[in-house]
Amino acid sequence: MRLKDKVAIITGAGRGIGKTVALAFAANGSDIVAVDLALSSAEATAEEVKALGRRALAVKCDVSKGDDVERMAKVSARELGGIDILINNAGIADIAPKPFFQVTEEEWDRIMSVNLKGVFLCCKAVFPFMKERGKGKIVNISSGTHFLGAPGLIHYASSKGGVIGLTRTLSRELGDYKINVNSVAPGFTITEGVAALIATPGVDEMAVGRRSIKRRQLPDDLVGAILFLSSDESDFMTGQTLVVDGGVALH
Ligand SMILES: NC(=O)c1ccc[n+]([C@@H]2O[C@H](COP(=O)([O-])OP(=O)(O)OC[C@H]3O[C@@H](n4cnc5c(N)ncnc54)[C@H](O)[C@@H]3O)[C@@H](O)[C@H]2O)c1
Repeated sequence: MRLKDKVAIITGAGRGIGKTVALAFAANGSDIVAVDLALSSAEATAEEVKALGRRALAVKCDVSKGDDVERMAKVSARELGGIDILINNAGIADIAPKPFFQVTEEEWDRIMSVNLKGVFLCCKAVFPFMKERGKGKIVNISSGTHFLGAPGLIHYASSKGGVIGLTRTLSRELGDYKINVNSVAPGFTITEGVAALIATPGVDEMAVGRRSIKRRQLPDDLVGAILFLSSDESDFMTGQTLVVDGGVALH
């Protein structure tokens, strides 16, 4: 019960890493706002959270749209009595790799608007409620692609590097409010979102082969780091990025 009676907003909670985190948080005593573009999948997550005995709210929201995000934050605080934790997990990961000179302006803008602007908008919308609480935890999901460089994914890797810049800057702005802002950078993780990549010959083997711990990475592998950064255990840690990738990117 490391998050007992906290209220956590998790974006992209309809499936993949977000859903796994939502259920793990609920098992640790947190109430959950399951946010997703796809309402039916957010609702399915919320039902599973309720089955674990916690309160849950499903909210349809596009994190790249300011009005949507404002509404999501307000309804979360109103229905569940405040906001303690924000996990900025929603992102577009299912991208067909292509050389940077073939990436269109539209593709670049789409990835940036969800993966980077979405994080900014969600942080901005929850800030007044965390300020009111006198404490808060924000965890932004970046990606190991930022550290390694990811040929064929210039827009994705750049957006995830931006998330780390945002995390560091915001941590300095929000320290006085006792709001911690940290990031987790996963390696290649088996989810629905990367199904096409997994099916591409050689990709899975390459991902496993370059790790120190040579096995597939699963969403459960990320729970420990995200839970730690959301709990009181990490109260003196801010502006940091935990790389959880089985030992590919070493710092
Ligand atoms: N799977 C990986 O290998 C991997 C590696 C590093 C980082 N990540 C990051 O982890 C996060 C989750 O990845 P995943 O593999 O679980 O993805 P996924 O595609 O399985 O799930 C993402 C969820 O986010 C939702 N979503 C997408 N755009 C949204 C928007 N604009 N507004 C609200 N919800 C939206 C989707 O509907 C989906 O339910 C992403 O930010 C991704 O970039 C994933």
